[in-house]
Formats: sequence, C-alpha cells, structure tokens
Amino acid sequence: MEITYREARPGDAQALLEFLKAVGGESDNLTFGSEGLPFSAEQEEAFLESRQNSPHSRILLALDGDQIVGNATLDGSDNPRFRHRYSFAITVRKSHWGRQIGSGLMERQIAFAKKAGAEVIGLEVRSDNDRAIALYRKFGFEKYGTYPKFFKINGEYFDIDYMNLYL
Ligand SMILES: CC(C)(COP(=O)(O)OP(=O)(O)OC[C@H]1O[C@@H](n2cnc3c(N)ncnc32)[C@H](O)[C@@H]1OP(=O)(O)O)[C@@H](O)C(=O)NCCC(=O)NCCS
Repeated sequence: MEITYREARPGDAQALLEFLKAVGGESDNLTFGSEGLPFSAEQEEAFLESRQNSPHSRILLALDGDQIVGNATLDGSDNPRFRHRYSFAITVRKSHWGRQIGSGLMERQIAFAKKAGAEVIGLEVRSDNDRAIALYRKFGFEKYGTYPKFFKINGEYFDIDYMNLYL
C-alpha cells in the first residue's frame, strides 16, 4: 500500500502510544523500550494538541493505510535565544525499514523547519546505529561530538553522536 504522510492529531494519541511501545521493543536505539512512554492517552492527546498549535514544532506520521508505521518529531523553541535551532527524532516500524519512509519523513521535516526559519537542526544518535547515521548523512547532517556512555542498557554502555544540519 502507498505510504502517506500527515501531521499527528489529538485523535492519534492512543495509536501513537501503541506505535511507540512497538518500536521501543524493536531496537535498543531509542530512549525507551517496549514500555513506551509513561503517558496516558489523555496526556498524549493534550500534548499532540499543543504540538499542533505550535508554529515551531511538528509531529509527522507516516501511515500505511490507517496504520502508523513511522513518526518524526521536530521541536523548536519559544526562547528567542534558541529560536534558530530545532531538534529532530525519528523512528519507523521494523517491518517497513528500507522503503524510504525514514527519508520521506526527514525531507518533509527539513522543509517544514526551513519554512519556520530554522537555521540548524540537531539530533542525537547511538554511535553504532549505522543505518540511522547513513540516513542523517544522506541529508547533510554532520557529527560534531560524542557523549561517551550516554546509554546504559542491560548493564552495557553505549556512546551517542551529536549531529547537526546547518540550513
Ligand atoms: C533509522 C530508520 C529511521 C531509517 O528508516 P528507513 O525507513 O529504513 O530509512 P530509508 O529506507 O529512508 O533509508 C534511509 C537510508 O538508510 C541507509 N540504509 C538503508 N538500509 C541500510 C542498511 N541495511 N545498512 C546501513 N544503512 C542503510 C541508506 O543510506 C538509506 O538511504 P538510500 O536508500 O537512499 O541509500 C529506521 O531504521 C528506524 O526507525 N530504526 C530504529 C529506530 C532508530 O534507530 N531511530 C533513530 C534513532 S536516532
């Protein structure tokens, strides 16, 4: 089925929380595991509403039919001193990796950020996450630093890379 993209709406709250639990269990690359995020559907609904109303932020979904198969968050700031920089995060269901969905989410969020006046988009990625790093490099992100032992997962430490895209 063709993949479609749209902004997340408050009515997506429950499905999005379930999606995040699923992707949390599919890799150890995210800041959470199969437990997902510690929010109720009501809290998530309020959060999605606030994001929808924010000119500086957007949660973008990739859908296969009516099923969420990917999401990418772009977060700006209201602080005038930070307003030029945005942060980015992305995840796609494992069943759908390698089908250009990550790229589709990325190019749409970069276009949104440019329009919103962003000058730089930053992200954090596990240093051994070759697939994600290849995606980020493809869109021009460059590594500028490393945080050693950022994650401790089941007793094992993992570094993360900081990457920026200057628009
Ligand atoms: C990283 C992730 C978002 C990529 O999504 P995706 O839909 O598979 O990405 P795409 O199909 O658009 O591929 C993007 C690029 O990844 C790279 N890539 C694809 N398959 C790869 C592989 N097997 N090994 C290394 N790089 C690979 C390629 O550079 C590809 O671009 P190209 O096809 O134009 O050459 C997805 O794998 C994912 O959600 N992983 C788990 C969560 C995660 O790691 N999120 C990022 C946290 S920082």
